[in-house]
Amino acid sequence: MQKNLTDRELLEALADVVDRNLARHIDTVADWQPHDYVPWSDGRSFEFLGGTDWTPDQSELGETAKLALTVSVLVADNLPSYHRELGKALRTGPWWRWVGRWTAEENRHEILIRNYLMVARAVDPVELERARMAHMTLGYRREPLHLIDVLANAAFEEAAAAVRHRSTAALNENPIVTGIAERIAADDELQAEFFADLVAAALDLSPDQAVRAIADRIAGFRVPVVELPDGRTSDTLLAEAGIYDPAREGELVFAPLLERWNIFTRTDFGDEGKAVVEALRTDARVFASA
Ligand SMILES: [Fe+2]
Repeated sequence: MQKNLTDRELLEALADVVDRNLARHIDTVADWQPHDYVPWSDGRSFEFLGGTDWTPDQSELGETAKLALTVSVLVADNLPSYHRELGKALRTGPWWRWVGRWTAEENRHEILIRNYLMVARAVDPVELERARMAHMTLGYRREPLHLIDVLANAAFEEAAAAVRHRSTAALNENPIVTGIAERIAADDELQAEFFADLVAAALDLSPDQAVRAIADRIAGFRVPVVELPDGRTSDTLLAEAGIYDPAREGELVFAPLLERWNIFTRTDFGDEGKAVVEALRTDARVFASA
């Protein structure tokens, strides 16, 4: 039987991998500027400064794009909560630098989308602000997880966010929305890669323990759900709109990562790990036809 490593042992053993991946991430990620993507000349003041307040007829955005971008603002804006959750597990040396970097990236995503929505008068600004305040006050809390679970979960969450943003781009709403969604999706994909490479390193160190964590996180995975100003929740609406359909989660989120980690071909599993892999082969959450 393979010996499980403690979170402390894993944090230490993987610190160099974090350092290398952080350097690669910063090297690879495009040096883009949020302000470049916002059509500032379309903007005008609200009544408070002598302009005109928002009315629904000012919005030229389709309902699906409005929904997708509102959800993106609320999810990304809630990053202090996610930051807290990540920070609980990844609080040493290079891990902490990565948490800071990741937080800064999520923040610029939120800044960019919110700036666009305000300048384009695409959604009710007061309603969005109320939703933001309520959503962040509520915060986000999850059960305490061990390190590999945190990493696997974050890899799945970023891969899912990338799917959501790629679908938003595919709406072809207008060139600005498409550009913004593609820009953010590219960042999400690199963030997913970072977390996935840490999981890969954990698999090399402690294969059975890591594959157990991966399987547990697949079983427990749920994308962040946002309650919208009209009381409806984002998960059902995004599924209906084809932006993020949980029925395709296996194919779009889990299977590509399992393949990246060579789960079904690696030969270093003990009996415990092999049993987990066998269960994954027929897991309906991964392979819809199973
Ligand atoms: Fe992200």
